[in-house]
Amino acid sequence: MRLPPTGDELLDRTSTGTFLFEGEPVQFLDGDTVGSALFAGGRRVFSRSFKYHRPRGLLCCSGQCPNCLMEVDGVPSVRVCSQPARAGMQVRSQNVIGSLEHDLMGIVDKIGGPFTPVGFYYRTMIWPRRAWPLYERFLRNVAGLGRIDPHAHRTRRFDTEHRRAEVLVIGGGPAGLAAAQAATGAGRQVVLVDEGLARPAPGSDELPFQLLAPARALGIYEGGLVPVDTGGVLIRFRAERIVVATGTIEQPLVFPGNDLVGIMLPAGVRRLVRDWSLKPGERAVVLSADDRGLEAVDDLERAGVEIARVVDLREQTPRQIEARGRRGRLKAVTVDGETVDCDLLVMSGGRQPAYSLLAQAGARIEYDDRRGIFAPTGLPPNVEAAGSVNGGGSASLPSPAYAGSGKCFVCICEDVTEKDVKRAIAEGFDSIELAKRYTTVTMGPCQGRLCHLPSVRLYARETATPEAEIGTTTARPPWAPVSLGLLAGRGHEPARRTANHHRHKELGATMMWTGAWRRVHSYGDPADETRAVHRGVGLIDVSTLGKLLVTGPDAAAFLERLYPNRFSDLRPGRVRYSVLGTDAGRIMDDGTLARLTDEQFYVTTTSTGADVVAEWFEWWNAVWG
Ligand code: FES
Repeated sequence: MRLPPTGDELLDRTSTGTFLFEGEPVQFLDGDTVGSALFAGGRRVFSRSFKYHRPRGLLCCSGQCPNCLMEVDGVPSVRVCSQPARAGMQVRSQNVIGSLEHDLMGIVDKIGGPFTPVGFYYRTMIWPRRAWPLYERFLRNVAGLGRIDPHAHRTRRFDTEHRRAEVLVIGGGPAGLAAAQAATGAGRQVVLVDEGLARPAPGSDELPFQLLAPARALGIYEGGLVPVDTGGVLIRFRAERIVVATGTIEQPLVFPGNDLVGIMLPAGVRRLVRDWSLKPGERAVVLSADDRGLEAVDDLERAGVEIARVVDLREQTPRQIEARGRRGRLKAVTVDGETVDCDLLVMSGGRQPAYSLLAQAGARIEYDDRRGIFAPTGLPPNVEAAGSVNGGGSASLPSPAYAGSGKCFVCICEDVTEKDVKRAIAEGFDSIELAKRYTTVTMGPCQGRLCHLPSVRLYARETATPEAEIGTTTARPPWAPVSLGLLAGRGHEPARRTANHHRHKELGATMMWTGAWRRVHSYGDPADETRAVHRGVGLIDVSTLGKLLVTGPDAAAFLERLYPNRFSDLRPGRVRYSVLGTDAGRIMDDGTLARLTDEQFYVTTTSTGADVVAEWFEWWNAVWG
């Protein structure tokens, strides 16, 4: 059932379509995602959790959590809350044996707890050793999320493009838009990348800069390289200046039962109500450590949800919070002994700056004790942070974990509980990097968005160590999940042709690729041509070879460190052939080195090796100073 139409909603109620979920037709409106259409149709359980196979429902509705992963048209682990619905789509649940409602593997949650504590696979299933292949097959069958059909036919193509931008803005919120507009006003060529759905905002056609949406910046690499996932095309941007305006991420609270279906973050409620005109529940409790959670009350009232209780965790500091449910669905919440019946709990543990891209670019990340968040400081040159990613606006100091009985999840992606973290610490994994590897906290599909801060704060409490000392785990690209197909997409490199290219073609040459170059393979009979060279004479066009100039008073000494030959005794005007080896002694390239003057060498490389050799020279030049 939809709420009455509003001006905010993303829906076109005059246009409908149908897709299939588990073979059954599901109706959607234009503007729906697969997730919103399923929710409108009454679905509340969207997935089963990774380890315990607990039912999970919509949590964030913004592509940040693992709760709505499904298989769409054969592609596993698609976040259906952000996947626009299309007629004819085939949507299926994943990670279940049976159905989402009745998953046989749910038995692990009921009786498996004592047998599957953190790191159980390092201690159990190791005896007798000969049985390992059986254990391994079993583990491989039950572990992981989603299935890939190794025999499936390719249904789409992926491409790679190379582009440059004077200013690349990542994030299309108010701060990102302001930064893009300011840079455009200053006469710069600007590209703005935003993860959100491309909203039909009035006037968006006339934006004075290029907008890429929905698109995700996957990382920031050396030299201003930013790969952007636009769906079917991976665009490798080289940007002179990068503005990161990725905002903040709403944080969950850690308490027993915090993963039940019906527990949502404020963003989830906001999107259900405002974007898709859906009523998130009937009776709600709101627990919030910041204004964001309290703002959700307006949305709930607008949707006609009864507000049973609101707890502002800045004013009230409960010791116990516990959610109880039936068949995985929320039924009641208890706060310090007082139980309230409800089917919706909106929780907000404050907001953590989404700093990962900045950390990858080289920013320092420091813990701010006062606000209880990690924030970026010391940005590298040509990288800026705009808006709340700087840390402004967050204020979260809830308890690292509230008391109560039942499973209390620190990481819902990997089903890591408070008890698991305590056990890991007791076993000696007391650094956050070691604990990450042992418990796998922060290593699931949310990539630490929802569990990094809570796990660090829990570690701090349990080890009586300040959060600043515990620090962060390393932020590595990709910042968002990316399909392997996209990474392996066809590269559209520019083809390089020699001045003689058309003459070769006229003479009947077959061309081949040599790196980016088009070179002659043969003129018809390679064996004949080989014999002609041996018996007579041959002519080769080597204009495609790489050419580098090495200049400076230490040029000869530099080359002697890289090549096995001596060059200090080579007289100007003379040439010497040599091979270039790696530091492991493997030949990586070859070519000639001509001494032009005492301080200048003209070095040739193979046609394909110029880039690698230039990089190799630059690297060693930097190392040796
Ligand atoms: S509910 Fe879809 S990603 Fe969180």
